[in-house]
Amino acid sequence: MSRPPRSGARGPAFAPSHMALDVAAARAALTATATAFAGFRVRYAVKANPHPALLRSFAARGIGFDVASVAEADLCLDAGADAAHLTYGNPIRSTRDIARAYDRGVRVFALDTADEARRLGAVAPGAGALIRLAVEPAPAGRKFGCLPREATTIASSAARAGLDVVGLALHIGTQRRDPRAWDAAVASAARVWELLRRTGMSPRVLDLGGGLPARDRRPTPPLTEFATAIRAAVARGFDEPPAEVAINPGRVLVAEAAVLFTTVHAVAHREDAVRWVFLGAGVWNAGLVDGRDGRFEYPVTAPDFAPDEPVSDALLGGPTCDGADVLRAGDPYRLPSALREGDRVAVWSVGAYTTTTAAVGFNGLAPLPVHVVG
Ligand SMILES: Cc1ncc(COP(=O)(O)O)c(C=O)c1O
Repeated sequence: MSRPPRSGARGPAFAPSHMALDVAAARAALTATATAFAGFRVRYAVKANPHPALLRSFAARGIGFDVASVAEADLCLDAGADAAHLTYGNPIRSTRDIARAYDRGVRVFALDTADEARRLGAVAPGAGALIRLAVEPAPAGRKFGCLPREATTIASSAARAGLDVVGLALHIGTQRRDPRAWDAAVASAARVWELLRRTGMSPRVLDLGGGLPARDRRPTPPLTEFATAIRAAVARGFDEPPAEVAINPGRVLVAEAAVLFTTVHAVAHREDAVRWVFLGAGVWNAGLVDGRDGRFEYPVTAPDFAPDEPVSDALLGGPTCDGADVLRAGDPYRLPSALREGDRVAVWSVGAYTTTTAAVGFNGLAPLPVHVVG
């Protein structure tokens, strides 16, 4: 089947690559998440996408925000968020950062060492402390979280430093596609919770972090299955449910709200490999960093081709002279066999961890512009 006529022949093909961010779609994702997790506190993990239009829209809904830096806290406050709804979930920060966040009204901090408890006690008197637990398998090695056996000692250090140990926090990693992936971490948190209570503390908050998946090329169970499994894990572990169970979703709220429009930069055939399709935007200039190792398999389509156009395998790469600038996937991408230089390509679900992770000027390429729609 020959390809359908395209508007302006190759006209749109050379339109600069850009991302379209649909704030209404993100709002809809928030509604779906808040509905599935009714009764849970929802705090948006700002690191996923701190675009002011998103933050304003979420702040207007009255949700909380999990921030990783003072700069993110400022973005939330500028967007109309109440400082009382902010948690500083990143336990890696300087004493100055703690003091500045405290100054702005942030009153809950995650921490995972006794050193951090002392520093918080010194410059954030009376602040709430969420003891961050390590999980197995650890998504970032031993960078984050204390071992369950250390937790009561660290919590005691926090209490001695004058902090209010409000509860426990964990994060099992991003784009988790198995609803039971929280089971072990929640069970471990429940055991630590009980130990805290036995040492005379009164934990109230169980913060389950992020990890809910957005739609990528692979099948993913519906959000409701995650909510059911997570509720069941909490019910199994805790005789008395925590006064507050929080989730800090990032990706699931914003990934599907953005599409990357780009063009085929070049097509190359190697004798020992299927064809390579190099896109005008990739890992670095579009920030598709989660595509490097296949952690996130971005859906890719060629919008100007008919659905019955013959397709064949394609390896996808970005335009830079860097071996990591490829979109890896478990199964090969299938794209029109007739795809050629200048044809338009859409990369979907690019709203999370892209605009902020794009490289500035790598290979002379600027990060892509973002146009807000919706
Ligand atoms: C502590 C914490 N909470 C929440 C998130 C958000 O994760 P996701 O975007 O997978 O929902 C992250 C991501 O790194 C995180 O580190």
